[in-house]
Amino acid sequence: MAKISFIGAGYVGLVSGTIFAHLGHDVKCVDLDENKVSKLQKGQIPIYEPQLQSYLNESIASGKLSFSNKIESDTEIDAVFIAVGTPPKEDGQADLSYINQAILDCADAYSPDSLIIIKSTIPPQTCQNIQLMLRQKGFKHEIASNPEFLREGSAVTDFLEPDRIICGISSDKAKKVFEKIYLPLTKKGYPIIFTDTNTSELTKYASNSFLATKVAFINEMANLCETLGANIDKLTYGMGKDKRIGEAFLKVGPGFGGSCFPKDLLAISHLSKEKQELNTILEAVIDANEARSLKLVNKIKNVLSTLKNKRIAIFGTTFKAETDDVRSSPAIKICKLLLDNGADLHIFDPAGMDNTAKEISASFHQNPYDAAMQADCIVILTEWKIFAQLDYNKIKNNMRKACLFDFRNLLDQDLIKEIDFDYHCLGKKGHN
Ligand code: NAD
Ligand code: UGA
Repeated sequence: MAKISFIGAGYVGLVSGTIFAHLGHDVKCVDLDENKVSKLQKGQIPIYEPQLQSYLNESIASGKLSFSNKIESDTEIDAVFIAVGTPPKEDGQADLSYINQAILDCADAYSPDSLIIIKSTIPPQTCQNIQLMLRQKGFKHEIASNPEFLREGSAVTDFLEPDRIICGISSDKAKKVFEKIYLPLTKKGYPIIFTDTNTSELTKYASNSFLATKVAFINEMANLCETLGANIDKLTYGMGKDKRIGEAFLKVGPGFGGSCFPKDLLAISHLSKEKQELNTILEAVIDANEARSLKLVNKIKNVLSTLKNKRIAIFGTTFKAETDDVRSSPAIKICKLLLDNGADLHIFDPAGMDNTAKEISASFHQNPYDAAMQADCIVILTEWKIFAQLDYNKIKNNMRKACLFDFRNLLDQDLIKEIDFDYHCLGKKGHN
C-alpha cells in the first residue's frame, strides 16, 4: 500500500483522499482552510455529497485518513496529489496561482522521490512548464498529471467505478507509482491509460467540452421542438437509443453550470485563441449556454406579462441535484435576472440554501410549501427528486395563481394536468 498526501480537501481532494484510504492507502489531506480542517478532524463533512460520510467515518476509524492545516516534511511519501482550485481569471484563462504555491510547498517538504501528481484541471503544457520551473529552482521532483472525472452528487461511485483512469507521465518510475496507487481499482478491471502530460491534461478539457456540447445542443433542439410542435423528451429517447449517440447528457434544462463546465470551456477557449487555433464549436457552445438564462426568464415574463412585484417561488438553486454547490449555477443566474426585473423571490433548496444566501438576497423558506404560499408562479430550476413528490394540490390551493414553470421537465405531466395548473415545461407542449 502507498503513503499519499492530498493538497486541497475540497470536492475532489476530500472524496479522492477518503476513497484511497478506504482502498487501503495511508492518506493525509492538507487544506489551508482551518475551519474545514477542524470540521474534518471531528469527522464532519463540510460539503453535501451522498455516501461520503460513511466512507469518511470508516477511513478515520481505521487510522488510514487524517487531516492537517499544513504540509509537514515527510521522506516516505510515495505521491502527493494536488487538488486545489483552478478558477477562471477575468479573461477566462485558468488561474494557476494555487497550483504553483501548493507545488512549491510540496517540493520544499517532500523528498525528490515523491511523485507530484496534479489532479486539478489544468491547461495543457502546465505540467511541462511547472517541471521546468522546479528544475530552475533546483528541485528534482517529477510532475505528473492525473485528471479527475468524478461528478458532484455521485462522486463516491464515480471514483470507485471509473470509466477510465488517465495518467500523464514522463518516466517509468512515475508509471510504477500510479500502478501501485490504482492497483485496487485496476485489478477489478477499471482501465488505466498512460500518456504524456499534455495529452492527459487535454483529455480532461476535451471530455468536459464534449459533454457540455451535448447539453447545449439538446437545449437548442428543445427550442426548436417548441417552435415546431415536437416533443424533446421523446426526441432524446429516440436519439439516445442510437448506441453511437448514447442517452447520457441529453436532458433538457436551464443550461449547464457548476464549478467546471463553464470554467473549463472558458479556459480551453482562451488557450485556443492564445495559440491561434480556431475553435468555433466551443465558442458557439459558450454563447448558446450564456443565452439560455435570459431566454427562460423571458418565457416567464411572457406568461406573467410583467415580473415586477410578482411573487415567484423558486424550487432549487444548486447547479444540479444532490449537491450543495451553487457555483455558476444557471438557477442563480435566472434568480438574479428575475430580481433585476423586480420580482419578489421565495426560495427553497434541499441543500444549497446557505450557499445561495451568499449569492443573492431573497426570502428563504424551510420547505417548498411555504415558499409557494401566495405565489404567482413556481419555477423548478433544479431536478431534486423531492420536487416531483410534492402534494401539488395542497400547493395550488395556497397560491395566488396556479402557474408552474418546470425547467427540468421533472414532473409527471398527466398528474399535473389533473391538478389543473397552468403548466409550462421545456421542448414540449405544456397545458393550461
Ligand atoms: P474546491 O474549491 O472545493 O477545493 C479546493 C481546496 O483547496 C479548498 O478547500 C482550498 O482551501 C484548498 N487550497 C487552496 N490552496 C491550497 C494550498 N496551497 N494548500 C492547501 N490547500 C489549498 O475545489 P474542487 O471543486 O475540489 O476542484 C479542485 C480542482 O479539481 C479544480 O481544478 C476542478 O476543476 C477540478 N475538478 C473538480 C471536480 C468537481 O466535481 N468539483 C471534478 C473534477 C475535477
Ligand atoms: C462534470 C463532469 O460530468 C465530470 O465528469 C467532471 O469531472 C466535472 O464536471 C468536473 O470537471 O468538475 P459536474 O460538474 O459535477 O461534473 O456535473 P454534471 O453532472 O456533469 O452536470 C454539469 C451541468 O450540466 C449541470 O448544470 C447539469 O444540470 C447540466 N446537465 C447535465 C444538463 O443540463 N443535462 C444533462 O443531460 C446533463
